[in-house]
Amino acid sequence: PTLITHPFDVVVFGGRGDLAKRKLLPALFQLDRDNRLSEDGRIIGASRGNLDDNAFRALVEQACHDFLPEKAFDTKTWERFSRRLSFVGMDATQHDDYGALKKVFEGREEVPRVFYLATAPDLFGPITRSLGEAGLITPETRLVLEKPLGHDLESSHEINAEVGQVVAEHQIYRIDHYLGKETVQNLMVLRFANSLFEPLWNRTYIDHVQVTVAETVGVSGRWSYYNGAGALRDMIQNHLLQLLCLTAMEPPISLEANAIRDEKVKVLKSLVRIAPNEVAHLTVRGQYRAGAIDGKAVPGYLEEQDAKGGSDTETYVAIKAHIDNWRWAGVPFYLRTGKRLPQRCSEIVVQFRSPPHFIYPDTAGPFPPNRLIMRIQPDEGIRFQMLNKQPGPGELNLRQTALDLSFADTFGTVIPDAYERLLLDVIRGRPTLFMRVDEVEAAWQWTDTILNAWQQQNVPVKHYTAGAWGPSAAIALIERDGRTWHEED
Ligand code: BG6
Repeated sequence: PTLITHPFDVVVFGGRGDLAKRKLLPALFQLDRDNRLSEDGRIIGASRGNLDDNAFRALVEQACHDFLPEKAFDTKTWERFSRRLSFVGMDATQHDDYGALKKVFEGREEVPRVFYLATAPDLFGPITRSLGEAGLITPETRLVLEKPLGHDLESSHEINAEVGQVVAEHQIYRIDHYLGKETVQNLMVLRFANSLFEPLWNRTYIDHVQVTVAETVGVSGRWSYYNGAGALRDMIQNHLLQLLCLTAMEPPISLEANAIRDEKVKVLKSLVRIAPNEVAHLTVRGQYRAGAIDGKAVPGYLEEQDAKGGSDTETYVAIKAHIDNWRWAGVPFYLRTGKRLPQRCSEIVVQFRSPPHFIYPDTAGPFPPNRLIMRIQPDEGIRFQMLNKQPGPGELNLRQTALDLSFADTFGTVIPDAYERLLLDVIRGRPTLFMRVDEVEAAWQWTDTILNAWQQQNVPVKHYTAGAWGPSAAIALIERDGRTWHEED
């Protein structure tokens, strides 16, 4: 079905940039192919350079070829899609250049418009101000801010304040693309549309939770951005904390955007701040050295092609976190993320407590406790590990087995890219999957305490070989509590 029924205009600032080419424009193409865009919908690239519309179209076509699976491209859709595309050459920092952009909207003042700022965050304030001064912000305008939204609480607050002077909060869409992932949205469905889990979803029955986002890629190509950020700012502050929030939050009263965001903010505010004297004990920073992934040699972080000199930036983080509230008091949430790990795998693992009294003392262990594994990517699915009797008349034997649900097998559909869903929602004006200002700032507040503590205590990175599961200290972080990181058998 066509989900967008009204005319729309989407302007992508940074329209020739990496994110636009890799994600945004191919996602819009896919939406068009699936007939989800209204006919009167336009996509306007805005960036420096004097391309004409045809040169921009050629660039977008190339991006679709480069970043979509081969089968996803078809010429019929392309013909339709390319007619939507145009380009405005402008320097977003030059106030006078906004006149050219204004012309694009002549006669379309009432049409819902989206300004997607896929630029560096220090431009968010200036671009928004110029849009305001040029009279381009209408009541039907939505402003999309890409991450990173600053590099700490203060800088994020400055951006939010500057943008907030021009655009109302309900018009601001702050992206965390993890919220656009199908399996992340399914987390809420799993918890709140089924009655089985919620009664068990608390400190009485849950021993601990693990959130893992492991990547095989390194930082080649984005070294200078990444080197100023590091894994805590790049991944934990946003993606992992969002996963933690959806796992830990109370049931919202409805699906209304603010009802959900209210519950997420409560979780973020209950996260226990990590004190400087605990940071060495509760967190691990790592950096990859040269190694091999899937048998292929890869360089270390400091030898990446665009690396500049030495660096103490972390490419891996593990944290033992606590949520100080009625539901979760005493239940650790172990978070870990890293680049150049052996597998690409994002998952949430909920480990239940062992039975209070075990009546099978003579059977040969070990007897792992129940684990619910919510697999976000790849091989999206849900797995529940439990013990069963091994069939047979002889000695009683227990075996760990799993109930396994694969999304691909069950639903037989290709899982769309997160940006497809998010772009649709922006154009339709649905803010649920975007972050409200207090959410972003509460997340920064917590990560800032860790960043400050690292700095104060001079916590160095521990090295790990590319292709290993992070530094050995990260394994010790969980094993000294008598627990283990989840690994698929
Ligand atoms: C981005 C980070 O937000 O998320 C990248 O900046 C990271 O460093 C990426 O690689 C991971 O996203 P995904 O969708 O591939 O898991």
